[in-house]
Amino acid sequence: MKIAVFAGDGIGPEVTAQALRVLDEMSLPGLTRFEGDVGAAAYRRHGHPLPEETLEMARAADAVLFGAVGDFTCDDLPRHLRPEQAILGLRSELGLFANLRPAAGFSGLEHLSSLKPEVARSIDLLVVRELNGDVYFGDKGERDSAGGREGWDAMSYNEAEVRRIADTAFRAAMGRGKKLTSVDKANVLETSRIWRETVIEVAREYPEVALDHMYVDNAAMQLVKSPGQFDTIVTGNLFGDILSDQASACVGSIGLLASASLGERRTDFGTFGLYEPIHGSAPDIAGQGKANPIAAILSLAMLLRHSLGREEEAMRIERAVEGILAEGVFGGDLGGTASTGEIGDAIVRKLLTIS
Ligand code: NAD
Ligand code: IPM
Ligand code: MN
Repeated sequence: MKIAVFAGDGIGPEVTAQALRVLDEMSLPGLTRFEGDVGAAAYRRHGHPLPEETLEMARAADAVLFGAVGDFTCDDLPRHLRPEQAILGLRSELGLFANLRPAAGFSGLEHLSSLKPEVARSIDLLVVRELNGDVYFGDKGERDSAGGREGWDAMSYNEAEVRRIADTAFRAAMGRGKKLTSVDKANVLETSRIWRETVIEVAREYPEVALDHMYVDNAAMQLVKSPGQFDTIVTGNLFGDILSDQASACVGSIGLLASASLGERRTDFGTFGLYEPIHGSAPDIAGQGKANPIAAILSLAMLLRHSLGREEEAMRIERAVEGILAEGVFGGDLGGTASTGEIGDAIVRKLLTIS
C-alpha cells in the first residue's frame, strides 16, 4: 500500500502532520508513504506548482493525502504558475471527477454551529461535487471590450460528464437515504439545462432513489433554513465548491469537513483517490498552531475506507474524533483553546481506547 503525501502551503503541513501521526498510530503492515512538493512550496523549489515528479508519485500511489495549497505571495503570478494549479492539475490529470464532501453534525457541537442548535442537529448530508468540468476547466481569457479589459470563462458540461457524476451520486444515495437533490441553475444556464435533462435520464436506472431538483440560490437558502431535508446533493464544480463551504459552517467549522476525490482507477485495495480537507491554506492563521487538524484526519479516514479497504480503521478514527469533540476538545475555530498539536494528541490518545 503506497500513499503519496502532498502537504502543500500554509496550514497544509500543520494539519497533515497530525493526520500522519494518526496514520502511524494505525501501524498498518505493508504501508509505505512518500512525500512530494505541491503549491507555492513546489513553485519555489522547482519553478512549478505541480512538478512532473509529484504527478508521477501520485500515479504510482494507491492514494494521495493532500493538505492545502495557496499563498498570497503568488497572487500576481500568471495563472498556470499559481499554487492552486497544483490541486486543479492533480484532479484533472488523475481523472478525479467525483468529489465527495460529507457534512454531518457532531453531537456536542450543535451550540457552536452558525445555525440554531435544533436546526444544526438535523444535518447529515453528502455533497457530490463534479470536479473535472464546469467553468473551472473551460476556456478563459482576457479581451478588449467597449468597457475596457474583459475577463471571460466558459462554463460547460457535456452529457457524458453529467452522466458519470450523476451515476456516482445515485449510487451514493442508494447507500444513504435514497434521496438525491440535483442543484443547478436551469432557469438561466444552458449548461444547467443539459445537466438537469441528463440527471433525469440517469434517474431511470435508479427507481428507488427519490430525485428532486433545486436552483442553487434556493439551495443555499434551504441549506441554512432546513438542512435536514437534504440527503445526497449532486452539483457542478462551482456550485459544489460554494455550497460545501457553507455546509461546513452549518456543522460548526470549515476545519471539520473532509473530502474524497475519486475517479475510475481501481487499486488492489479499492478505488484510487485524493483526500483533502475542504478548507484551504488559511494564511491568516498559518504557523500559529491554530489550525483544526480534524478535517485532515477525517480525510485520512476516508482514504483508508475508499482506497485501502480499511473500513475498520476508518471507523476507529471517526469514533476518536467524535469522542474528543463530545468531550469538548476544541480549537479556536470552535471557540476553544486547544492547539493543532493538542487536538492531534487528544485524538491519538482516544484511538488507544477504541478497539
Ligand atoms: P481557507 O479555507 O484557507 O480559509 C477560510 C477561513 O477559514 C480563514 O479564516 C481560515 O483561518 C479558516 N480556516 C480554514 N481552515 C481552517 C482550519 N483547519 N482550522 C481553523 N480555521 C480554518 O480559504 P481562503 O482564505 O479563501 O483561501 C486561502 C488560500 O487557500 C487561497 O490561496 C485559496 O486559493 C486556497 N485554497 C486552497 C484549497 C485547497 O488546497 N484545496 C481550498 C480552498 C482554498
Ligand atoms: C477547494 C478549493 C479549490 C476549488 C481551489 C483552491 C482551486 O476551493 O478545494 O474547495 O475551488 O476547488
Ligand atoms: Mn473551496
